[in-house]
Amino acid sequence: MLKHKDLIEPTNNPFSLFKNWYDLACDTEINDPNAMTIATISNNQPSSRVVLLKSYDENGFIFYTNSNSKKGKSIKENNNIALNFHWKTQNRQIRIEGQASVVSDEVSDSYFKSRPRGSQIGALSSNQSHELISRKKLTDNILEIEKKFKNKDISRPHHWNGYIITPQLVEFWQEMPFRVHDRVVYVYSDKSWKTKRLYP
Ligand SMILES: Cc1cc2nc3c(=O)[nH]c(=O)nc-3n(C[C@H](O)[C@H](O)[C@H](O)COP(=O)(O)O)c2cc1C
Repeated sequence: MLKHKDLIEPTNNPFSLFKNWYDLACDTEINDPNAMTIATISNNQPSSRVVLLKSYDENGFIFYTNSNSKKGKSIKENNNIALNFHWKTQNRQIRIEGQASVVSDEVSDSYFKSRPRGSQIGALSSNQSHELISRKKLTDNILEIEKKFKNKDISRPHHWNGYIITPQLVEFWQEMPFRVHDRVVYVYSDKSWKTKRLYP
């Protein structure tokens, strides 16, 4: 028998409820509570992959990636995007739909600066999503970059950017006994968030 959870109590906007759930997930997941699946569409073909949520506020949800990657090109072609968080310890899911856009250079620069040097070098060395003929090519790239930037700061490459997802739909899903789950969806329209419950 599943442990009973109270029904979801909708707040004024999805961000405060997101924060409640996210904070709890951060305390309980064994790793990567900030992992989220992002689905993009290119040529009518959806594609999904996991990235890490790096920050969020009432403007949206931010992750970082290589703009020349498959997802980067896909977003450029069609910025409609869907996110999904699944927190196993909480038996909860959050689905978000919205539009992705590149954040300002200042925001990306500041996050890039905060990363460990090894991750900065990693970002420069990888032609993400393109064919890698041999692993040695990648390790050679890393050595070359280490040499080039010896005793120097590494600046963010222009093709490495943050993306903010501005949500227009956020759904909170919580497991309940006997698969009679609870779902609350927030939809943004006429400059305000409206909520409704959905059948599970
Ligand atoms: C837990 C986890 C976290 C990840 N975080 C990121 C991330 O923040 N940014 C990123 O570009 N790729 C991240 N990846 C790798 C992506 O899933 C993906 O392999 C990569 O971005 C290339 O995707 P694409 O070819 O569809 O562009 C992560 C993978 C996992 C499993």
